[in-house]
Amino acid sequence: MAVEPTPKRLLIVAHAPSPNTRALADAVIRGASHPDIGGVDVRSVAPLEAGPADVLAARAIILGTTENLGYMSGALKDFFDRIYYTCLEKTQGLPYALFIRAGHDGTGTRRAVESIATGLRWRLVQDVLICRGAFQDGFAEQCEALGMTMAAALDAGLY
Ligand SMILES: Cc1cc2nc3c(=O)[nH]c(=O)nc-3n(C[C@H](O)[C@H](O)[C@H](O)COP(=O)(O)O)c2cc1C
Repeated sequence: MAVEPTPKRLLIVAHAPSPNTRALADAVIRGASHPDIGGVDVRSVAPLEAGPADVLAARAIILGTTENLGYMSGALKDFFDRIYYTCLEKTQGLPYALFIRAGHDGTGTRRAVESIATGLRWRLVQDVLICRGAFQDGFAEQCEALGMTMAAALDAGLY
């Protein structure tokens, strides 16, 4: 009997404190879970619940956060603080993508996340998605596409 290959784990760690941002995180999950993408196991864990074991089990990761006071959410920063040294030597090259919900800017958050991810030697594999300004329905479509592209590329063996 043929043995099914082990699905590749795509981890989503997104802080979603508001209904709008929750809708964006759900759109990422929906896109990544597209039924045509068979070989990817999507796991979404809130930043305060996620730990090093989640990251070590992942083949790729999508990060999401609101921008608060020019920086990523405290929850996502706490996630990085707790995983950093455990993952540092073991996750180099990990493909990652990032979406940011920002009321009016987003650049400080982008810089901060990229700086930490560079320290971890993670590899940014998609353009950073900043959903900026007044909330638009189109943001969810962009987030869904981000999730789907990431999962499809992982499924296709591109990462
Ligand atoms: C305390 C606080 C600080 C904020 N700081 C920023 C900021 O520095 N830059 C920015 O673009 N948006 C900022 N915002 C707006 C948030 O990014 C926005 O409220 C969040 O993304 C949720 O938006 P949503 O309700 O449309 O999901 C801030 C919001 C709060 C409550």
